[in-house]
Amino acid sequence: MLINQFAASGFRNLDGLVLEPHPALTLLTGSNGSGKSSVLEAIYCLASGHTFRTRRVRDYLSFDQDALTLAAQLRDPRNGSEHRCGLSRQRDGEVQLRVDFETATSFSAVARLMPVKALTPDSHRLIEQGPEERRRFLDWGCFHGSPDFMEVWRRYRRALTQRNEALRRHASDDEINSWNPALATEGSRLSELRLHYSKNLALHVKKRAQSIDFPFHMELEMRSGWDQSESLEEALGTRLETHRRMRTTTDGPHRADLLVRADKTLARQHLSRGQQKVLVHLLHLAQLDCLRDDTVGTAIVLCDDLGSELDADNAEHVVDQILTAGHQALVTGASSIPDALLDRCSDHRGLAIQMRGGKAGA
Ligand SMILES: Nc1ncnc2c1ncn2[C@@H]1O[C@H](COP(=O)(O)OP(=O)(O)OP(=O)(O)O)[C@@H](O)[C@H]1O
Ligand SMILES: [Mg+2]
Repeated sequence: MLINQFAASGFRNLDGLVLEPHPALTLLTGSNGSGKSSVLEAIYCLASGHTFRTRRVRDYLSFDQDALTLAAQLRDPRNGSEHRCGLSRQRDGEVQLRVDFETATSFSAVARLMPVKALTPDSHRLIEQGPEERRRFLDWGCFHGSPDFMEVWRRYRRALTQRNEALRRHASDDEINSWNPALATEGSRLSELRLHYSKNLALHVKKRAQSIDFPFHMELEMRSGWDQSESLEEALGTRLETHRRMRTTTDGPHRADLLVRADKTLARQHLSRGQQKVLVHLLHLAQLDCLRDDTVGTAIVLCDDLGSELDADNAEHVVDQILTAGHQALVTGASSIPDALLDRCSDHRGLAIQMRGGKAGA
């Protein structure tokens, strides 16, 4: 899916912004504070209900406004079909989400329509930090790759919330265990979907690493979140005392992790910061490869300040690969945009837009 037009008001310093991105490459240039990252955040927010910098509405709702509105006109390049999505959010918390002129009840309807991926200056957190970031990464791919994933995940969360609530109020064993079958059924299915996806992802990561002569042998391993010598239902039974002590369920796919190994050692222990950044971009490119395998088609890839993350050659390579695979890229940079990308705009294979005070110029 491609964005034909995007409009934003009441979002950070964006007010009355209307943007018509290029189907391939759009460069957003402009001085510090002109609103480049805000444009990418606003697109991300429309597809997910939060931004890649913050989940707090008060951070991105314009200081002097009581509401924000975001709207996108989308086009599917495979069949030319057009779609519209819109979000309005009031300071008092009211949210309205529309997809093709109908009210939508969850952001998954928008996310399904517009797969958005953000490559941001702190993307190395994927390697460096705890498992939560990696679960989110994995689940982005599973969500787009498998139509059932969201529903299975929701059912699992519902059962988990109920079991944890029972643990918190020291309910009887019978009551706590009554949630185990639902948790085990949905959790095992969730884990299977993740495992299937991570295997395909691992193949693409290997290919991607080889294609740039990345000097490490890359492996991915999905850890399910419970002791694999037992089924999830057994683990929930045998670990009940621990869960009672912790007053929460500490086994299950909500504790999963995706281990990223370079030459058999965890990448975060082994690789330099720069190598970690290159690797993170390889992981994202591999995820975009999976999207093509799953016939989801193309994504909208937001590259915020790529030049501050990667050296010019690597930054150019990443954008080049995104474009070669047919995805739409929106790339920001104050002074760090590689020349090769600027050249694409001069010969009409891309569009450069100068941001000034939250407005878009030519
Ligand atoms: N809630 C808000 N309401 C109004 N303005 C805001 C809000 N949050 C941030 N801003 C302002 O919005 C402007 C745009 O910020 P943004 O991060 O998009 O700039 P940028 O062009 O990406 O800059 P840089 O080159 O430094 O990355 C900044 O001047 C910032 O102070
Ligand atoms: Mg910025």
